[in-house]
Amino acid sequence: MCGIVGIVGRAPVAPLIVDALKRLEYRGYDSAGVATIDHGRLGRRRAEGKLVNLEKRLGEEPLDGTIGIGHTRWATHGVPNETNAHPHFSNDVAIVHNGIIENFAELRSSLIADGYEFASQTDTEVVAHLVSRELAKGLGPVEAAHNALKQLEGAFALAIMFRGDEDMIIGARNGPPLAVGHGEGEMYLGSDAIALAPFTNAITYLEDGDWAVVRRGGMEIFDIEGKPVDRKRQQSIGSSYLVDKGNYRHFMEKEIYEQPEVVSHTLAHYLDFANGVAKDFETPFDFGKIDRLAISACGTAYLAGLVGKYWFERHARLPVDIDIASEFRYREMPLSKQSGALFISQSGETADTLASLRYCRQEGLPIGAIVNVRESTIARESDGIFPTLAGPEIGVASTKAFTCQLSVLASLAVKAAAARGEVDAEGEKLLVRQLSEAPKLANQTLKLAGQIEKLARDLSHYKHVLYLGRDTNYPLAMEGALKLKEISYIHAEGYAAGELKHGPIALIDEQMPVIVIAPHDRIFEKTVSNMQEVAARGGKIILITDAKGAKHSTIDTLDTIIVPDVPEIISPIVYSLPIQMLAYYTAVFMGTDVDQPRNLAKSVTVE
Ligand code: AGP
Repeated sequence: MCGIVGIVGRAPVAPLIVDALKRLEYRGYDSAGVATIDHGRLGRRRAEGKLVNLEKRLGEEPLDGTIGIGHTRWATHGVPNETNAHPHFSNDVAIVHNGIIENFAELRSSLIADGYEFASQTDTEVVAHLVSRELAKGLGPVEAAHNALKQLEGAFALAIMFRGDEDMIIGARNGPPLAVGHGEGEMYLGSDAIALAPFTNAITYLEDGDWAVVRRGGMEIFDIEGKPVDRKRQQSIGSSYLVDKGNYRHFMEKEIYEQPEVVSHTLAHYLDFANGVAKDFETPFDFGKIDRLAISACGTAYLAGLVGKYWFERHARLPVDIDIASEFRYREMPLSKQSGALFISQSGETADTLASLRYCRQEGLPIGAIVNVRESTIARESDGIFPTLAGPEIGVASTKAFTCQLSVLASLAVKAAAARGEVDAEGEKLLVRQLSEAPKLANQTLKLAGQIEKLARDLSHYKHVLYLGRDTNYPLAMEGALKLKEISYIHAEGYAAGELKHGPIALIDEQMPVIVIAPHDRIFEKTVSNMQEVAARGGKIILITDAKGAKHSTIDTLDTIIVPDVPEIISPIVYSLPIQMLAYYTAVFMGTDVDQPRNLAKSVTVE
């Protein structure tokens, strides 16, 4: 996923574009570039790697001009070098792009046949030449852009500039989001509202198929047929969150420590703590009317859904089918008409999750979405929106969004249990009270940071780590492994503890630390046996448990992290913190780029 920006401004735009790109860098950081037009001159600066390299280039060779476009890249086509960095040019056309042009190969061959020469390996350059070819037919810029857009297949958010017109940027959206910002005698384009927050909070989101002609005096929006369309102008909340690290070394550290607060906000949105009930939602997604629930998501969001499956089935007796979205979207799962479908996504833009949502929409199911970005595509295509109130999550590795997703899922499970008559008033009151303890207990757990940081120093010397857990700690074991590998680059796997003897135990030796997530619950003893199997083979165990578990565990461990005693329904929320902190501190010791790990992007808006 990439970040794109465009400004038709009154002052030199290059520094403003870089500032906006900084707020989009979490979307991709393989390379970056800016193009401006200044008195008829089309200029460009690009740099491989992070934005700081582009800033350096611009410091050495400034760019003038009050109209410009910019881009920060997560490479899909072509290695992340300067040649492949956006913006891409073709004669008088400059373009930046987020997404994938699926028919780029045939378009490229046709353009080469027409004499166009390619400087890069990217699909984006095809679009630049396509517009150029339409101009060469004698069309004006607007018509040329429109004709080119009609030839594209795939996902794209585009900003296009023309050397002959210093008062126009054309924006287009088909899939990845594109926002238009309204300023005073200035207009802006950006991949999301956060990017435009320093300039305006008056935002219009383009819909799929829209394209916009943006000028200093305003904009016109058209559908792909060229018919004018009207889109809502809204107040964005992007600007209301201060997006900076504060006193923390990394956004991820800050976001780990924000969790007690944002979990509290999220729970309070769904639960009436005073009366001990789950609130009625202002959305039509009614758990009382469905007999099965399909859940689909990717990555960490999927693992939150896996925890939710245990809760919906245990408390609401609601059967749940769950699958990762990249599989779900092609499996064409048979779904009963009484099923509901629930999608979980921090960004609300993940392509696979959106495709799964659209499959369920076609099947006629009521669609619910747990999202952190209310204006996102997934939110807008859902019947029931269940927001996580985590605030912008900038660290690529998801932390506070995950615990807020769990908070929403636990609240929805309580709501579903009550709606299906599976819990009486007293039972609902108890569950709500237990959930209300999550922020306080999470806050207490954060105090383990010192011990975990020491342990992380040891862990950073290993090449492979195994995480084990049972029940809701099994998805947590997978989440712990995902956190560790995506930010420290240490290979890690999460496994159901009961599965150890069915193969993974062959891996166990003194070079393979095993992290066991096991509160003292009704299956704790089963997990103790797994730990004995590991210890008997020289495996090093790190046990994450509570005081009772520590007392009853008869195993020598490399370390035991003792978490406060917590009720079952909030255990995954609280036990997420030690596994996040362990991954974070290990990555810090490894010296990796914690907030922007290699090869990753915050949201994958391409397949
Ligand atoms: C989380 O740490 C990962 N960065 C990744 O797995 C993420 O959860 C996944 O890409 C889904 O993103 P979404 O929640 O924005 O849909």
